[in-house]
Amino acid sequence: MDYRKSIIEIIRDRSSRRSYLPQPVEPEKLGALRAGFTGLRGPFGGEARFTILDATGWGEGKINSLGTYGTIQGARHFLVGIIRRGDHDMEDFGYQFEQVILRATDLGLGTCWIGGIFSRSRFADPAGVREDEILPAISPLGYPTPKRSVTDSIIRWSAGSRSRRPWRELFFHGDFETALTEESAGRYRDPLEMLRLGPSASNRQPWRVVKEPHQDIFHLYLRRSLGYDKLIKAVDLQRLDLGIAMSHFELTARELGLAGQWARLSPSLSPLPERTEYVRSWIAERSDGPTATPERGESRSAPAPASLGA
Ligand SMILES: Cc1cc2nc3c(=O)[nH]c(=O)nc-3n(C[C@H](O)[C@H](O)[C@H](O)COP(=O)(O)O)c2cc1C
Repeated sequence: MDYRKSIIEIIRDRSSRRSYLPQPVEPEKLGALRAGFTGLRGPFGGEARFTILDATGWGEGKINSLGTYGTIQGARHFLVGIIRRGDHDMEDFGYQFEQVILRATDLGLGTCWIGGIFSRSRFADPAGVREDEILPAISPLGYPTPKRSVTDSIIRWSAGSRSRRPWRELFFHGDFETALTEESAGRYRDPLEMLRLGPSASNRQPWRVVKEPHQDIFHLYLRRSLGYDKLIKAVDLQRLDLGIAMSHFELTARELGLAGQWARLSPSLSPLPERTEYVRSWIAERSDGPTATPERGESRSAPAPASLGA
């Protein structure tokens, strides 16, 4: 995906927008967004596909005319993403959908991840979702109203959307008990900060990262929020969040010239906090080659770094 602006600037610019001006998006802009739909692939190998639906004439006036139960107002276009069901499909989807969202932000458009309560069939039928596929999320696309709607403000307030957890609650050094400081993150300070600023369902921020001492290896974990999986059964929203986190981290690292790859290692950190699952590790490439054997996709495990054991 090509971006006009710096990814750091785009990530800082983005925020969820839920009310839109009636003005449609210019066809050239929609074309520029569509140009980024091809060539994307998730870190686990899954490829999502995307379409933009025109919602003009979807029964103005009725509360759920847009299929979002009144949370989105005035949108004329919706970005819809679809992926084949499979292992880590949600992480792969989150990783790719977020890259399209960031491209829309880059083009000056408002967006909002909608993965929770919306009428999936309203979007699945016109988008042509097949039996082996799933539609995890949609987003309105358009020019946001200068002032947020009351509904938008209430949702933001209830999710606490304006703030993020501090570093000490998210990033750790060697184990889950030692906080990682911005100084000890070194050249990975910005990739971690951009991960931290990412959107997440209900702003729960379920991502946790443990840095290996003395090496630029970052183990990514999902810390599930209590009871959250029971709320929305259709998709695993917190796995989407992890895919978003991986995209922010990687896009920022690449922009800063920090080469590396996602790999499956066996960090076996203990004690592991409750409801915490290992996802993947980022292995930075040193000038003399990668710091461990990286693995793209699912096929085999790379050896664990010495300090963490197998
Ligand atoms: C996977 C995912 C699903 C989301 N689902 C919804 C949703 O169904 N409805 C909604 O209004 N916002 C939804 N959001 C938006 C979040 O509430 C929002 O990203 C979070 O509160 C942080 O605010 P920000 O995006 O303005 O930074 C979702 C976000 C993510 C990442």
